[in-house]
Amino acid sequence: VTDEALYYTVRIERGEHRFFNQGVSTETLGYNGNLLGPMIELPAGKTVYINTINQLDEPTSFHWHGLVIPGAEDGGPHQSIAPGEQRQVRLDIDQEPGTLWFHPHPMGATAEQVYLGLAGLLYVTDQTETGLPNEYGVDDIPLIVQDRLFTADGQLDYDRQMNIDGTVGDTLIANGAINTTFDVTTNTLRVRLVNGSNARNLDFSLSNGEAFTQIATDGGLLDRPVSLETLTLTPSERADILIDFSDLSLGDDLALQADGIPFTTFTARDHIEQDGDWTEAFTEAPVANESSEADRRLTLFGMGNMVTIDGKQFDPDRIDINVRQGSTEVWEIYNREDMMGGMTHPFHVHGVQFRILERDGKPPPDNERGWKDTVAVAPGEKVNIEMTFRETGTFMYHCHILEHEENGMMGQLKVD
Ligand code: C2O
Ligand code: CU
Ligand code: CU
Repeated sequence: VTDEALYYTVRIERGEHRFFNQGVSTETLGYNGNLLGPMIELPAGKTVYINTINQLDEPTSFHWHGLVIPGAEDGGPHQSIAPGEQRQVRLDIDQEPGTLWFHPHPMGATAEQVYLGLAGLLYVTDQTETGLPNEYGVDDIPLIVQDRLFTADGQLDYDRQMNIDGTVGDTLIANGAINTTFDVTTNTLRVRLVNGSNARNLDFSLSNGEAFTQIATDGGLLDRPVSLETLTLTPSERADILIDFSDLSLGDDLALQADGIPFTTFTARDHIEQDGDWTEAFTEAPVANESSEADRRLTLFGMGNMVTIDGKQFDPDRIDINVRQGSTEVWEIYNREDMMGGMTHPFHVHGVQFRILERDGKPPPDNERGWKDTVAVAPGEKVNIEMTFRETGTFMYHCHILEHEENGMMGQLKVD
């Protein structure tokens, strides 16, 4: 272990990709490649410098979703990078290990840039021996799951005007591929699921109907592992799950599916037993879930172009909430129904990880008892979250349906 800083370069490139066996390629965007991006490891306790380069002919920004860092490094709409420009960011990593991601956040073009392929992974890691599978690409794999619309000739189809509540596609891609496959050589596989869709909620399940085990939420391990047959992730939510392959005969397949559609097929190739007892990662007492009075109440409302937070649409020159550095607040997030009922909004806050204290006055389900940065709020629901503002600067909070965020369902928080 050394105290040296780590250096990375992340460059946005225009590329081409063929999603289908037949047909022509479609224009895409990628970080250091044609589509999506690299996994960037961010060891806790380290300083990481990332040289970010914009090779597009339009502005972009590099947002480090889920990282607890100062507002100036956060990569929100204020840290726009002009075409051809570059900028070095400094990230001091000080939070629990977890599966985070990065994506663009420029005003007016976030949804389309993500849709065309800009999304990468950030793994916050540390040296703690948990016994959990952690060999990247062997027994620990990420799956960025996204839905896409294609034209008849295989072109990515993005039309924001036609999809004002978010672009929802009929084709699922995982790590940029349709029908992803993976050979499993161990008894237990850890899958880091990222819902990287612009707008679509995904209900994950296994094709054999068996349960899997969720071990982590957006920003770290759960208090306790939770056995589930289905798991819903709204846009930008993440979950680490363990899938048990020990009963599968060699050569047999098992698929992960979303909304009943298989998107990744696993084939059992071997049954190597991993060392270590991963249940020991969960020996700490669960975090007490004390309800407390809300310090602030935020109201999400509307659909399409009429989406608001507290009756307002985003204004880059307006600070909506001021808080003191180091303070801890409870926010009640209320999704007010309209006459049509309304829709679920995934509510996200930059620069913090929070705990969900209550859903409609009741403790959250067991699989939400971990660090979160995005929380699904159903129509009519009130969700209380608690967070501590460690870093100073200006941060966004918004609906993570990217087209809602673009339509103004975003506010600004200033920490002094
Ligand atoms: Cu994924 Cu404003 O963030
Ligand atoms: Cu974010
Ligand atoms: Cu929304």
